[in-house]
Amino acid sequence: MVKVEVCVGSYCHLNGANNVVVSFQHMIERFGLHEQIELSAAFCMKNCAGGGVSVRVNGEKYSIRSEEARTFFKEKILPLVQK
Ligand code: FES
Repeated sequence: MVKVEVCVGSYCHLNGANNVVVSFQHMIERFGLHEQIELSAAFCMKNCAGGGVSVRVNGEKYSIRSEEARTFFKEKILPLVQK
């Protein structure tokens, strides 16, 4: 199970956290990954200075722009699922 958390703290919310969540949900749907990925929202990850939306994948923190969410999913999350 890959654990994916999206920060919905106020800073990340302003940077498009909702769009990231929706994009990830679409990708999970598209690839049929409900059983393999646990997607959840998280409070501030103390990573507000990252300049984007904070995302944690199996405990590793990233800061992504909301428009990059699908690419990020393909590059950083999908490979973990396929292992
Ligand atoms: S609000 Fe998202 S890291 Fe602080």
